Amino acid sequence: MDHPARPLTARRSLRPLTGALRVPGDKSISHRALMFAGLAVGETGITGLLEGEDVLRTAAAMRALGAEIVQDAPGRWRVAGHGIGGLVEPADVLDMGNSGTAARLLCGILASHDLFAVMTGDASLRRRPMRRVTDPLQACGARFSGRQGGRLPLAIQGARDALPIEYRLPVASAQVKSALLLSGLNAPGWTRIEEPEPTRDHSERMLRHFGAEVRVEQSGHGRVASLMGQPELRAADVLVPGDPSSAAFPLVAALLVPGSRVTVQGVGLNPLRTGLFTTLREMGADLQVTNEREEGGEPVGDVTATYTGLHGADVPPGRAPSMIDEYPVLAVAAACAAGTTRMRGLAELRVKESDRQSATAALLTVNGARVEIDGDDLVVHGGNRAPAGGGLVETHMDHRLAMSALVLGMATEAPVGVDDSAFIDTSFPGFVALMRGLGADLQ
Ligand code: S3P
Repeated sequence: MDHPARPLTARRSLRPLTGALRVPGDKSISHRALMFAGLAVGETGITGLLEGEDVLRTAAAMRALGAEIVQDAPGRWRVAGHGIGGLVEPADVLDMGNSGTAARLLCGILASHDLFAVMTGDASLRRRPMRRVTDPLQACGARFSGRQGGRLPLAIQGARDALPIEYRLPVASAQVKSALLLSGLNAPGWTRIEEPEPTRDHSERMLRHFGAEVRVEQSGHGRVASLMGQPELRAADVLVPGDPSSAAFPLVAALLVPGSRVTVQGVGLNPLRTGLFTTLREMGADLQVTNEREEGGEPVGDVTATYTGLHGADVPPGRAPSMIDEYPVLAVAAACAAGTTRMRGLAELRVKESDRQSATAALLTVNGARVEIDGDDLVVHGGNRAPAGGGLVETHMDHRLAMSALVLGMATEAPVGVDDSAFIDTSFPGFVALMRGLGADLQ
């Protein structure tokens, strides 16, 4: 995304944040809905699709691969595919913008289709490691050539007669697990992927929804997901829940601005995504879930956050996969809490849209909070009140850093600025208007 930088400043909210809102659709589920519908036979209706930059890149890539994709109304899309094996060779480079999920999952799909494709992305995505998917994907017969370290741009020659893969992930990553499972869609027999910790299972749930045979079992070393290859995926409508990773921002803001009470309706509550809510409750937060239901194979509910003082917590490393995108905003909450919060085992944070471990530490330090990086841990010493603020935060093309910094500025004495808010549109278009609607002062 080439754009002029859009600086933005958050000032302390002098009145409580109040109201009920919906956040845009889940990013992980939206990517998968477009991809799987584009591989299915027939027409799938998708409701609640996230229309952020990242997901629009996936839509463009699937169109370039032959799927028909149209938007009927805001959030309502129709996708028609030609079945597994029915992709066409893209005529031009696939530009995945800022999106690691789009790039990695698509590598999996392309690996088992006999066609040539070139993939690139923006400066942030071109820095991110791709060998974690391309190395194991070679076992199906695909060939990849990328820049040093296997980075984008990447040329992909998919396998003619792909083989199913058996692989144990060295790190817990839903993107890598999903890429490998997706390669198995066009390979005969069982593809079998073992992960050391359970990661988000949207691929497994949605592949079943489209008619694939997917088994999940515990093994001695973790969790194994297996997919029977060459299923006939059939169109199946998808209802996308609100993204819990986006709901995190208004909910944490409500926990930091005295007197606030905010409800986010229709939030996805997949247990492999709700580590932040568990942690905030351990820190003393008043978070209530009502109206729990199941929509489109995913648990959903309304979440209400009511202001309470927070205290520090020790966040175990095993919880990281279920809250991997929420550490920056958790660190903001921790900086306002009483006592120390230690977030353990954050090595994976270094390879997100930015190096989120050091960028989160910098975000807090420049605003007067006390933070340490201790190996893979991030340690935040809360002062029982918001830090002073007054800093200008470098966001490094990272949407979640920008939103986390702005949430901090809603509670600090002095305003908090971000150098560029434009990347917020990758995952949370409308963030500024929604937060202003609750009473936040963003300029
Ligand atoms: C995602 C998985 C996570 C997460 C990302 C979305 C997905 O990445 O950080 O925002 O949709 O599968 P990793 O699998 O690299 O941990």
